[in-house]
Amino acid sequence: MTSELPPFANQSTFDKAKAAEPTLWCNPNYQPSSDGEAAQTLEQVHKDWAMLAPLLQKLFPVLEQSGGQIQSELIEVESLRAPLCYEDPKFGRLFVKGDHNLPVAGSVKARGGLFEVLMTARRQALAEGFLSENDDICKLASDAARAFFSQRTIAVGSTGNLGLSVGVAAKTLGYNSIVHMSSDAKTWKIERLRRYGVKVMQHRGDYNHAVAVARDAARYDPLAYFVDDEHSELLFQGYMAAAGELDIQLREAGIVVGPDRPLFLHLPCGIGGAPGGIAYGARGLFGAHVHCFFAEPCQSASAMLRMMHGRDARISVYDVGLTNRTEADGMAVATMSDLVAERMQTRLAGVYTVGDEDLFRWVATAYHGASLQLEPSATIGFAGPHFIANSLEGQAFADRHLLSKPLSNAIHVVWATGGTFVPELKFQAFVDRGMELGHPTSLSKETAT
Ligand SMILES: Cc1ncc(COP(=O)(O)O)c(C=O)c1O
Repeated sequence: MTSELPPFANQSTFDKAKAAEPTLWCNPNYQPSSDGEAAQTLEQVHKDWAMLAPLLQKLFPVLEQSGGQIQSELIEVESLRAPLCYEDPKFGRLFVKGDHNLPVAGSVKARGGLFEVLMTARRQALAEGFLSENDDICKLASDAARAFFSQRTIAVGSTGNLGLSVGVAAKTLGYNSIVHMSSDAKTWKIERLRRYGVKVMQHRGDYNHAVAVARDAARYDPLAYFVDDEHSELLFQGYMAAAGELDIQLREAGIVVGPDRPLFLHLPCGIGGAPGGIAYGARGLFGAHVHCFFAEPCQSASAMLRMMHGRDARISVYDVGLTNRTEADGMAVATMSDLVAERMQTRLAGVYTVGDEDLFRWVATAYHGASLQLEPSATIGFAGPHFIANSLEGQAFADRHLLSKPLSNAIHVVWATGGTFVPELKFQAFVDRGMELGHPTSLSKETAT
């Protein structure tokens, strides 16, 4: 299979990725520009979320205070600059977007999963005449609605966090809920779902296998709806809303993103839906002034390989000899989503990869330096400012796209995607491992200066 790979421009970047070394790839097809299509979709998404808000508030008491909004904090992490070696002004300002703490599902997948389940519930209720367009959406939280939904099933395939989001939302409405999980899914995520009454089926294969089995199983049940993490437009739209929230938070912090103030988003990537949706929404709002990078574990560089080879090349990490084995379970994905590859072709600035050991180091750093409880997957974006400001590829990117504006003007947002629900003992074990590994990180040798 390896010999059949299409040729591509940058052999040395490919060789590094193939050797599972931390690598930055900048997209030669990247076209930073305003994006009417993304802006229009985002406008509709905001309307849909606003329509769902009263229902969310009714279903989940934890959302009462926010008026049914699924929101997370934007935190400037000054205290992490020294431990991350980001004290030099060339690294700009450093923020964490706290999706590790998102209510209801505790991860970046909350927005997508809740959005798709609730939009689907509404559509089914409208189609069956249980709900009319003029009815109060909160009717979907009634006992009669629970009886209606209990005849139906919502299924999903997941490495864990999408399962938590979809499973909890579906069960709360009254659906039967089935989550098909990959062999690497964490036991605590399975146990948490079972406590909610969700049926969990764990498979021997990887994430793409679990999704395929789930898709197949749902096909045989006419009352089953399958949330397709690889192809779902609704999941993608659900994630997009995060961009609007970020826009408000940056403005509240007095930051106006523009030619003098570029915004870099560092987005952990598995199948690509969550980072893709956020990036697409951000393009709709910030246009040419936001630069979105996906971040992946070295052994699961599926988005890097796919984007490098062109959106039509369905390449898997196994094709180049990578193992897809990583402690960053949310990102253990061998083949990127077609939908996301297509949308990101000219919208994605680049992809970088990071070794697992650094993820544990940063779990400990974020905990001791800023009291953040992040799972290893959620720390990967901390590599971003380093790649942009210290590597030759990053400097070439800045020369080309920042039009001589200094990198010190940049705002870096590291998207922290999960962690709050990790059981205390497990989390402590992550921190201990990070402490044992100590400094320096494996990125140190990447420095171009
Ligand atoms: C903690 C965490 N980060 C990042 C991701 C990546 O999201 P996606 O698979 O949509 O690319 C996941 C996916 O489950 C996740 O659980």
